[in-house]
Amino acid sequence: MNEKIARLREAAKSAIDEAVDLNKLNEARVKYLGKKGAFTAVLRSMGEIAAEDRPKVGKIVNEAKTEIEKLIVEATQKLKAAALADKVAGETIDVTLPGRKQPLGHYHPLTLTLDRIKKIFLNMGYSVEEGPEIERDYFNFEALNLPKDHPARDMQDSFYITEEILMRTQTSPVQARTMQSHEPNSPIRMIAPGRVYRRDDYDATHSPMFTQVEGLVIDRGISFADLKGTLETALQQIFAANVGVRFRPSFFPFTEPSTEVDISCVMCHGKGCRVCKGTGWLEILGAGMVHPHVLEMSGYDPKVVSGFAFGLGVERIAMLSYGIDDLRLFYDNDVRFLRQF
Ligand code: DAH
Repeated sequence: MNEKIARLREAAKSAIDEAVDLNKLNEARVKYLGKKGAFTAVLRSMGEIAAEDRPKVGKIVNEAKTEIEKLIVEATQKLKAAALADKVAGETIDVTLPGRKQPLGHYHPLTLTLDRIKKIFLNMGYSVEEGPEIERDYFNFEALNLPKDHPARDMQDSFYITEEILMRTQTSPVQARTMQSHEPNSPIRMIAPGRVYRRDDYDATHSPMFTQVEGLVIDRGISFADLKGTLETALQQIFAANVGVRFRPSFFPFTEPSTEVDISCVMCHGKGCRVCKGTGWLEILGAGMVHPHVLEMSGYDPKVVSGFAFGLGVERIAMLSYGIDDLRLFYDNDVRFLRQF
């Protein structure tokens, strides 16, 4: 009997030794210490041995069981520690691997262009004003000397919301708004950037929504020379110090006289090419001396003050600066295009 117990004890020990994981260890525990296990069987068979030997045998069995239990507890701890070490090893971070880059956002080319224009005028002491994109007919047209039925309204075929409210077709209404928010005859030097809306096709050079920058300067003794000097300086800063600037007579209802301003072609430098249609010049903005009636309607006295105004298209300037030949690229949100700026 003693020998059998000794053998079981050795077998149990080696089963514990050989258990490679917690499952195997549990199998060994069940096999030797479980209710139907080997040692339980020995205890059950005590009836077969002589009564005086029973306490001795019982003692040996219990000693063996205690030792095996202890070994199982130790082995369990060891296997758990090993499993954890394995897991940790598998999860180590290799700090020498290249990181995953978060793509960095950046400004839209129109925003970049607008910021450059703003900076140039801020440096000349202008303020930046804002007006609503949903505008009153009064500010968009009437206060700019375009009464109802004025034929020049047709050029800006508009999105009307009611008879009296529309999506603004130009940033010029901010002229009247700014004058009316100032003391009459007090000086103004402002630009007003923003979106404007016109019923238009959507093609390489047209869009029903685009961006303008309005400018307005009013003070005592402002002359056409101030207009010329200011716009020449601004255009040289936007394009190049040696860009050619030319003024052509034109018509706008809210300025008198009015002018259209051209720059020498940025592609061919005046020689004549496809972009400037062979003329060597590119039309870049509209401007003029503020019409006396426009000053009057907003509370300014044309006998005391005078002023000039201008309006330029931001998309056109961005296209010429970056060499972009299709306006739609600004609005289509194709990252292959946008990523380049
Ligand atoms: N508002 C005009 C347009 O959208 C542009 C313009 C021309 C603005 C002359 C001006 C100006 O302030 O003086 O076509």
